[in-house]
Amino acid sequence: MDNEQPWLGKSTHNHQEGNDKMPVHRLTPLLCLVSIWRILTTVSSHPHLGPCQLIQRTALCNNRKLSSVPEGLPDNTEELQLNYNDIVTLQNESLLRYPSLTTLSLACNSLEKLESNTFQDSKSLESLNLANNNLNRNYQESSLALKNLPALRFLDLSENKLEDDMASTLLQNLTSMEYLNLSGNFLKRLDETSFRDLLHLKELDLQRNLMFEIDGAFESNPNLRRLNLAFNYLPCLTDFHMTQLVVLNASHNFIEWFISSQDLNETFQLETLDLSDNKLIFFPFLPSQSKLRNLYLSHNTLRFYEHLSDNATLPNSSTTVEFYNINKDLHNVTAQLWDDSLHGDISALEILDLTANKVEYFPQGFIRKMPVLSRLHMNTNCLETLNFTSENFSCSLYELDVSNNRLNQISADIHTLAALGNLTYFNLSRNDLKMIPFGLFSSLSNIRSVDLSYNSIGVCSTKTATSTNAFSDCVNWQNIVSLRQLHVKGCNLQMIPASSFAGLLLTHLELSDNPGVIMRDSLQSLSQTLQYLGLGNTQIKNFDFSAFQNLKSLNLSRNSLSQIPQSLQSIDLKVLDLCDNNLTSIPSSQAHALASKLHTVFLTGNPFNCCQTEWFRTFDATKTVTIIARSEIQCRDIFQTHRIKDSQRFSCQEGSESLFWYILLLVPIFLSFAGMAIIVFLAFKPKLLQKSFKKKYLKPTSY
Ligand SMILES: *[C@@H]1O[C@H](CO)[C@@H](O)[C@H](O)[C@H]1NC(C)=O
Ligand SMILES: *[C@@H]1O[C@H](CO)[C@@H](O)[C@H](O)[C@H]1NC(C)=O
Ligand SMILES: *[C@@H]1O[C@H](CO)[C@@H](O)[C@H](O)[C@H]1NC(C)=O
Ligand SMILES: *[C@@H]1O[C@H](CO)[C@@H](O)[C@H](O)[C@H]1NC(C)=O
Ligand SMILES: *[C@@H]1O[C@H](CO)[C@@H](O)[C@H](O)[C@H]1NC(C)=O
Ligand SMILES: *[C@@H]1O[C@H](CO)[C@@H](O)[C@H](O)[C@H]1NC(C)=O
Ligand SMILES: *[C@@H]1O[C@H](CO)[C@@H](O)[C@H](O)[C@H]1NC(C)=O
Ligand SMILES: *[C@@H]1O[C@H](CO)[C@@H](O)[C@H](O)[C@H]1NC(C)=O
Ligand SMILES: *[C@@H]1O[C@H](CO)[C@@H](O)[C@H](O)[C@H]1NC(C)=O
Ligand SMILES: *[C@@H]1O[C@H](CO)[C@@H](O)[C@H](O)[C@H]1NC(C)=O
Ligand SMILES: *[C@@H]1O[C@H](CO)[C@@H](O)[C@H](O)[C@H]1NC(C)=O
Repeated sequence: MDNEQPWLGKSTHNHQEGNDKMPVHRLTPLLCLVSIWRILTTVSSHPHLGPCQLIQRTALCNNRKLSSVPEGLPDNTEELQLNYNDIVTLQNESLLRYPSLTTLSLACNSLEKLESNTFQDSKSLESLNLANNNLNRNYQESSLALKNLPALRFLDLSENKLEDDMASTLLQNLTSMEYLNLSGNFLKRLDETSFRDLLHLKELDLQRNLMFEIDGAFESNPNLRRLNLAFNYLPCLTDFHMTQLVVLNASHNFIEWFISSQDLNETFQLETLDLSDNKLIFFPFLPSQSKLRNLYLSHNTLRFYEHLSDNATLPNSSTTVEFYNINKDLHNVTAQLWDDSLHGDISALEILDLTANKVEYFPQGFIRKMPVLSRLHMNTNCLETLNFTSENFSCSLYELDVSNNRLNQISADIHTLAALGNLTYFNLSRNDLKMIPFGLFSSLSNIRSVDLSYNSIGVCSTKTATSTNAFSDCVNWQNIVSLRQLHVKGCNLQMIPASSFAGLLLTHLELSDNPGVIMRDSLQSLSQTLQYLGLGNTQIKNFDFSAFQNLKSLNLSRNSLSQIPQSLQSIDLKVLDLCDNNLTSIPSSQAHALASKLHTVFLTGNPFNCCQTEWFRTFDATKTVTIIARSEIQCRDIFQTHRIKDSQRFSCQEGSESLFWYILLLVPIFLSFAGMAIIVFLAFKPKLLQKSFKKKYLKPTSY
């Protein structure tokens, strides 16, 4: 660690570094609202001077529709905030009266020009925020103004539509600068002229530009520690030799190759490298000596190629790569492509994120090269086997996620597992496992969370548990005292033997998607500890929850329940999922009891009766409970399906149900009357017919 860099203070372990350490004010539209809100809420407590509010030596004049710097603020003002105004030109004399200014913020104006003498007396100005303006317009003159700032350390030029030449002009002679933000501009190509004068630069944000090439751009910045290149169009980073850099973020580009200079005999200071969301096909060729701790490689297409190295069957395959850049000088970077032993120095790696790649296996000795690895994220890859014995994971391994692979075999011996005493989180879900090493989880002395969901692994009864086989198709969970969370969703569980969970202190048990699973009394031993229980799609019926006094969250979705278990009223439940059941209504006393305790309830997908929705109004009127997807809950009245919240449309105002029955009763009566009428009609009809016939045609003819 570099002790001169207090702003690097927390560069270990955390995922958000590289981003928010620059002390320049960041202003996104969201912050815009926040700052307006702040201004409004603090208005009363501080004195006002014209449009500005004064707090000690700070003048806050944000969002006042100002078109120039206000006059008449105290001479000794040190910080002046003029964000969200309409200042187009910063005039020569506008800051003359404030020679003590150290911080000036003009973000989100329509600033087009800094007149060349604007800063002639601003010798103490250290921080200048010009984000989100139009400095592309008069950058020549504006650059002259910036040259008058001998103390300038922070400069935010983000979102100013700056192109390459504009930026390099504006940055000429700014030798004192330490923090520079150029994100959200139109930079395309960086070369040795781009930052030539920024001899003291420590942090540079170049996110969200249009960069496709970097060629020798940072040779004059020996102090550069943090560089953010995220969201650009870089196709590769080759000959990487910035030994001074501590954090490099090149995520969200189109990088196929990361190759560091192989002939440097120097230790790279690099601690965090983010290459996620790129197009890597090879593991990056890392420096041969480095302090790299955090390596983020998720969402690439990388895999290992050890099986192709020194293989005579590939005679014509190339082992070197050539890179061209726009100046037509060719770089011949030689990398032994198929040799996975050349990944570089990963001996200090603590976090390795390979999520969503194409890894089929780890090269020999790869895992062993990381003796302090604590988090390995391998979810969504193509692993087929995992041999703990041969891989030899470090004893500091804390989190292992191999979910969503194609694992069909895991092997391990007891000694290797016993060494994994720090492993706390182990995710094996969504694989093809049918067998598992005997004692796999009970050997992990600190294991807290296991996810085995969507594998065909059962829960052992005590009898099978004493088997002497090395592999077993079920797990004996008994007495794994460290375990708190167990997920065995969708494991085709048929039966959970009665004492399966004895000696466990689970707080979280997920059994969903095991339709028809027979549980006997297996859950009773967990009644004192369980806080979450997932029983969705298990066809559960008549379960007595009253002993589960600590249960806070219960998932009973997709179970064809026609009523809510009475026993839920006696426990202090906060979250209840009842989606996709068979509920037609909820008795009013039960609705009141549940509404008074619950915080969150899920009720969609039930065939509710529109004419019995008092329960809905009970939940709705209780301010402490949130009905998730409230507007999607439906009910039926005699005519059609409605959204339950649109109660004015139901065809069942008071007594409407009896109306329905009246109609039902009246219909047969009406029908029988109609029937009788027809019979009578038919009975008399022949006579009538005859009569009229006679009348008409049997009249005596007159001819
Ligand atoms: C890299 O930058 C992206 C985009 O700003 C950010 O989401 C990510 O967290 C950064 N990576 C690290 C390691 O800070
Ligand atoms: C640079 O500016 C952008 C946009 O204004 C902001 O999102 C980003 O966080 C800033 N970078 C740093 C390091 O403050
Ligand atoms: C700016 O730097 C150049 C050399 O890079 C020098 O010739 C010039 O005098 C400097 N200008 C100012 C105003 O310091
Ligand atoms: C690299 O440095 C080490 C000691 O730091 C030295 O022994 C070795 O000879 C150097 N190698 C080269 C190629 O310079
Ligand atoms: C070499 O190629 C053959 C055929 O593709 C393959 O069976 C073998 O595993 C490869 N690797 C080595 C090291 O021989
Ligand atoms: C290797 O390349 C040469 C020349 O391009 C060609 O004649 C030869 O058939 C190739 N060999 C194989 C195995 O593809
Ligand atoms: C690059 O390396 C290859 C193989 O080593 C060689 O044939 C080629 O001439 C080199 N190109 C340049 C420009 O040095
Ligand atoms: C796992 O690796 C060990 C040591 O390399 C080896 O002895 C064992 O056979 C391997 N197990 C399997 C199932 O491949
Ligand atoms: C846990 O990891 C630390 C190093 O991070 C190590 O000192 C300790 O021995 C490990 N604990 C166990 C039980 O292996
Ligand atoms: C395990 O991984 C799966 C898939 O990556 C994820 O959905 C699940 O939430 C993870 N389980 C736990 C307990 O974090
Ligand atoms: C309840 O379980 C179902 C089925 O497994 C799932 O889709 C749903 O998201 C779960 N509900 C909650 C609140 O987690």
